[in-house]
Amino acid sequence: MPEMRQSSLVVVANRLPIDDSQAPDGACEWRRSPGGLVSALHPLLRHTPATWVGWAGGTGPAPALPDVDGVRMHTVALTHEDLRDHYEGFANATLWPLYHDAVEQPQHHRRWWEAYQRVNQRFAEATAEVTEQGGMVWVQDYHLQLVPGQLRALRPDLRIGFFLHVPFPPPELFMQLPRRAELLRGMLGADLVGFQRVQAAHNFAQLVTRVLDLPATDRRIGIDDRVVRIGAFPVSIDTAEMAALAARPDVAARARRLRQDLGNPRQVILSVDRMDYTKGIEQRLKAYSELLASGDVKVRDTVLVQVAMPSRERVGQYQILRERIEREVGRINGEFGRVGEPAIHYLTQPFDRAELAALYRVADVMAVTPLRDGMNLVAKEYVAARVDDTGALLLSEFAGTAAELSQAYLVNPHDLEGLKQGICAALRASPADITQRMRAMRAHLSEHDIRAWARSYLHALDEHGALVGRLTSTDTDPDDARVPRPATPDAEQAARQTSG
Ligand code: ADP
Ligand code: F6P
Repeated sequence: MPEMRQSSLVVVANRLPIDDSQAPDGACEWRRSPGGLVSALHPLLRHTPATWVGWAGGTGPAPALPDVDGVRMHTVALTHEDLRDHYEGFANATLWPLYHDAVEQPQHHRRWWEAYQRVNQRFAEATAEVTEQGGMVWVQDYHLQLVPGQLRALRPDLRIGFFLHVPFPPPELFMQLPRRAELLRGMLGADLVGFQRVQAAHNFAQLVTRVLDLPATDRRIGIDDRVVRIGAFPVSIDTAEMAALAARPDVAARARRLRQDLGNPRQVILSVDRMDYTKGIEQRLKAYSELLASGDVKVRDTVLVQVAMPSRERVGQYQILRERIEREVGRINGEFGRVGEPAIHYLTQPFDRAELAALYRVADVMAVTPLRDGMNLVAKEYVAARVDDTGALLLSEFAGTAAELSQAYLVNPHDLEGLKQGICAALRASPADITQRMRAMRAHLSEHDIRAWARSYLHALDEHGALVGRLTSTDTDPDDARVPRPATPDAEQAARQTSG
């Protein structure tokens, strides 16, 4: 057998940044995986001598993948049972709803827990094989909460980080989990546990005290003979890349063409979501429908473009959601549309980055109204794409992004009247107000981009600077070298809290 190649930086995430899909001619092709985690990490690791350990999106033997943009792909195989009980079961029907305010009922099955342990162990073993002696491992998200502990047992020489991309719930919700102690212990295998929000770190510290009876503050937790540091590191996007894409003449031309194709309405409202019950799509459609019924919004002036990319399609709650959304879109179009003028343009296709940028450019109002979201990168992408400082961002207070983009038109998506008022306020805002808000948000994102996020996290993880030095010497592009980007306020605070 050929010797396993090892890396000094290994990212471990449920998904690889590419997965296999069917080309229109039926051939197998690889495409960028959807979702916020890949959007965040893929641009970051590009051309870094790192390995990404993850699942390639199918079942059966692990395909051997080529390097992607210089990053090694190390595939972990899932069987049909693993997919059903780990990914669709424990990860997406127990933890996902529980961590998102239980907006759908979390389900508990012992078989799912067994699969979760088994699959996490497989990820830990794969990671142990591909990481250099003394290397750094960065474990991502709720699918892999046991991996830090399992990996430490296999490779105590490693520096281990864990980052949760989704919200971490308050104790009263987390306490529902039958195996809550094991999950917390698994995360505490890391040297640094990162969250999107300060509140999440606080929830974690409270739980560790209550469930494990360990000494914990919102910065540090003592376990065995170690100190685990915790903090908030709000994830971001490659702001410059999105801005450059949106500024391209072909993208601007495509945006003009899209507006024409939409019938040259006075205003375009856009929403881009994974089709998920946490995204508040149904609540938004209801609000829009009531505005059409009351005449506050008129089809001939305004169109809504709803992109809803199907996700986790074999999970029952997602199937029901899709049926309900499609029924509602059909009803609204039937009731309020005219020939050649639908009230809602509804699209479930994946788009490449340039098409997404053109959609962002055409949107006068971007409606991002999740019921709960760890961060929401779509909101940040929209802001980055508005290179002429126009465009109104309607944003849920319950998205992690709201803590940073406080100049958005903020709404509570559970409050139907408030949501309607928010849509009207964004549609009717003065150009001066819109520009002032957009400028402030764009300035924030140009500083607090994906590289600032990664640096602040990795520097906090790599206390002595030995590993990050090696990493940044190869991943830094000339612009980065010229402009040292400060960390976000939350991340700065966390770095201060966790340093030393
Ligand atoms: P989540 O992590 O819950 O999926 P985010 O808003 O953080 O939500 O990230 C979603 C990511 O997926 C964004 O980068 C967005 O551009 C991308 N995305 C969403 N819908 C599509 C689509 N139809 N085609 C391509 N990319 C999409
Ligand atoms: O942000 C939460 C998350 O699970 C990410 O890990 C992922 O990028 C996204 O949602 C898409 O989900 P999935 O990997 O289940 O398609």
